[in-house]
Amino acid sequence: MQHLAIINSTPGMSASQPLRELISNCALSASEARILLAHILQKHYQLPRSALLSRDDMSLNEQAFLEWESLVSRRVLGEPIAYILGKKSFHNIELQVGPGVLIPRPETELLVEIVLTEIAKLDKHSRILDLGTGSGAIALSIASAAPLASLIATDQSAEALAIAKQNTQTLNLLDQVHFLQGSWYAALTEQDTFDVIVSNQPYIAHQDPHLTQGDLRFEPASALTDYGSGLGCLEIIIAEADQYLKPGGLIAIEHGFDQSEAVMGLMKVAGLVDVQAYLDLAGLHRVASGRKRL
Ligand SMILES: C[S@@+](CC[C@H](N)C(=O)[O-])C[C@H]1O[C@@H](n2cnc3c(N)ncnc32)[C@H](O)[C@@H]1O
Repeated sequence: MQHLAIINSTPGMSASQPLRELISNCALSASEARILLAHILQKHYQLPRSALLSRDDMSLNEQAFLEWESLVSRRVLGEPIAYILGKKSFHNIELQVGPGVLIPRPETELLVEIVLTEIAKLDKHSRILDLGTGSGAIALSIASAAPLASLIATDQSAEALAIAKQNTQTLNLLDQVHFLQGSWYAALTEQDTFDVIVSNQPYIAHQDPHLTQGDLRFEPASALTDYGSGLGCLEIIIAEADQYLKPGGLIAIEHGFDQSEAVMGLMKVAGLVDVQAYLDLAGLHRVASGRKRL
């Protein structure tokens, strides 16, 4: 099956071809072909991405060519580039990712910016809770940009936490970020309060057709959907936030582009004040925040 896929997806390529022809004959778009070929050049020849231009007449050795064919085939079959490369850039850091975690999305950087703005207004030693941390994207980018903040990051998935801990070690942030396993606030070992609660939790409804399309087919369903209306996880996190926030503390939550009104309504019902909506770079309502009363 894998072999057949390789034959079908790379019909115009041979090991003797120079890099520029591998790109132009590839079944993928030129930009995706360049990303994968840059990875091969780095791994097999320790060459930078610029070698795609400066050495475009070079051809790959047998081993590198076979790996190139395999990467192209995986992408042709739909596997996300981030899983193929095993990494993804997010905010100011690079994260290791794999099939056990959601691939961090650029729109989630909005949540990080909101939390960093809040931290800048607070006493320097702020305490932050990241619920459903996945690869650690939100917690680790906050920790990296705000060295005096301390963070607790939780997830239900042991596989996600293993990847998040690996990323924490690689980024040398073990002193700042601590991980706990369990469902939302139940993961906390003691009654604790925070300056900020932040979360990008599953918010896709279980019947949404996007779950069976594109990159989402390869990501863990438990990271994407609440297996219900899409609002189930948001309801729990918002309803219990008051108990875990310091007076005046902020909760900021990512949601679907059509869930803004519902999420802001949940915040008001939970007694939170100063409820606000934020637009992402695509101009879609993507985050809501509220505060515990002083
Ligand atoms: C949308 S992903 C977000 C991952 C990461 N925060 C990010 O933005 O890239 C949601 C995460 O919530 C976790 N999760 C799902 N249900 C959970 C629960 N009941 N308690 C804690 N975490 C949960 C999933 O394992 C997944 O890692």
